[in-house]
Amino acid sequence: MSKLSARPKSVHVTYRRMRFEFEEKGFVKHWHAGSPSISFFWDALSTAFPPGEKFFIDSARALRDLADDPQLREEIAEFCRQEGHHTAQHVKFNRMVEKQGFDVMRLQARFSAVLDRVRAHAEPLDMLAITVALEHLTAGFAEQYLDNPHVTEGADPNVVALWAWHAAEEAEHKATCFDLYQKLGGGYVRRVMVMPAAWLLLIAITLRNTRDLLAQDGPPLDPRDLARGLAYLLGRQGLISRMTPAFFAYFRPSYHPWDKDDSSLIRRWQARNARYIEATPSVASN
Ligand SMILES: [Fe+2]
Ligand SMILES: [Fe+2]
Repeated sequence: MSKLSARPKSVHVTYRRMRFEFEEKGFVKHWHAGSPSISFFWDALSTAFPPGEKFFIDSARALRDLADDPQLREEIAEFCRQEGHHTAQHVKFNRMVEKQGFDVMRLQARFSAVLDRVRAHAEPLDMLAITVALEHLTAGFAEQYLDNPHVTEGADPNVVALWAWHAAEEAEHKATCFDLYQKLGGGYVRRVMVMPAAWLLLIAITLRNTRDLLAQDGPPLDPRDLARGLAYLLGRQGLISRMTPAFFAYFRPSYHPWDKDDSSLIRRWQARNARYIEATPSVASN
């Protein structure tokens, strides 16, 4: 069973060139409410993006021209520009974490190693199915980031601005690869088969990298901070526990990313964060 994108009319996948204040102002090691474990969770996740978003872009580009839908092809081009700019901003962020004395490349290499193995064995439609599964994960993170106050509470606003922008654009383009997958005849079984492993691997490597950063930060580990980090992820309002409904929603045969309309979250982000937008080149050229 398939249906075409039900993206709300107010949502346009739009590349925006951004300028954030974390670059000039810097941020402390424990930028998230003074908590090493929560700050390092996000630092660890940030190292996934350079190899991860390259994987997404390559998956979409490899199949883009097979879609007989000029509007979707243009949307994919914009998706690639967005993902490319996410990586560029996260590379700046990762370099600043590196300057704080952490071996960031070792963390990034863990994601690269897994994705390189997948590239070596997967056919293009499998790669796209994995991308669709991980885009569902990033859309889930995005919804929590923009809608669950517990997720950003006490964090450095200059760093939050980076993540909130990334979240808003992940929400904006959450259906792009899914729609391409559907257009090319990608089926239900392939879509759901790859999803649990894709989610589990990304979360497992992120947690391993978080532990690595905690070890690099130096002993002793503070058990109260670890308990706080676990509650942040797995408590009642926790980032990961609140994503459980999204995990199960993916298994519905009729699932579409826009079954969940979070366009109001994107609009709210846009209204509050316009000062970070340097330009929207693609809108200007339309
Ligand atoms: Fe992204
Ligand atoms: Fe994305």
